[in-house]
Amino acid sequence: MSGGEVHHIALDVTDLDRSEAFYRDAIGLTSAGRDLWPGDGPSASFVLGSGEYLVLCEVAEVRTDPPGLHTRFAVPHEDWDALVSRLQGLGLSMHDDRKGGLRAVGEAGLNVTDPDGHVMELELHGPATFEVPAARRGKVIAGQIEDFPIGSVTRIPAGQFFLVRLRDGFLAVSQVCTHMQFAVTYQPEHYRFYCPRHRRKFTRTGKYLPRFDDDGTPPLRSYAIEFIDGQVVVDTDESIPRTREEVDCLVAAPGGSEPAHAVFSQRRGPSSRGAGDA
Ligand code: FES
Repeated sequence: MSGGEVHHIALDVTDLDRSEAFYRDAIGLTSAGRDLWPGDGPSASFVLGSGEYLVLCEVAEVRTDPPGLHTRFAVPHEDWDALVSRLQGLGLSMHDDRKGGLRAVGEAGLNVTDPDGHVMELELHGPATFEVPAARRGKVIAGQIEDFPIGSVTRIPAGQFFLVRLRDGFLAVSQVCTHMQFAVTYQPEHYRFYCPRHRRKFTRTGKYLPRFDDDGTPPLRSYAIEFIDGQVVVDTDESIPRTREEVDCLVAAPGGSEPAHAVFSQRRGPSSRGAGDA
């Protein structure tokens, strides 16, 4: 099978009226009607925003869901506040199951349990979730040029970036994941950056490495680099978005005919050029 779409999600319930009221009045789903599927027994259906159905099927007994089984709704940004107030007004117990409460800026989530014990996870990703902030630590001296051997990737905590040095030059890579703002780590054994939040991987120059489907996650951002008196200075006040074509452009270290005190930009620097691996 090359793909396909979900047509419906079926949930067993013991009291159709009670559960229909929960999904309509508490969750706020749009009712599509009763008994839409002939021969399937009593049911109540809701049509979801993406066109699939949620079908409640009345049965005599509902088996307990195994741990971890849940249904997740992606709630539109504009509906979130009203949904939370509605759930609070109904006195429903809500909690955030995210381990350690870690969420990106602009992301919110809560779990509620329906009358039969099915867990509903409600999640919001507002526009701020996908904004990648700059470190804003000003100009940070990473160290002397010779402190960074070719092939090295060094985290600079003071500036919240990684300084990458390859054969063709330097790159200051933001530690903020371009998917949803979690901090990436560097895995030297794999020569790549890794974000533990949703397991995205990026090359040393920050290019996204999709596992299966490429969802278009942009490259990790970079910062402008200057070389001043033999030091690598990184301006962390503005993170520079990069296209996939720009991702391997490094900033050449001064030497030869290059001026000893020149300002370089990752994107338009006078000596930027394509990067090969170290
Ligand atoms: S925040 Fe989702 S993979 Fe990094």
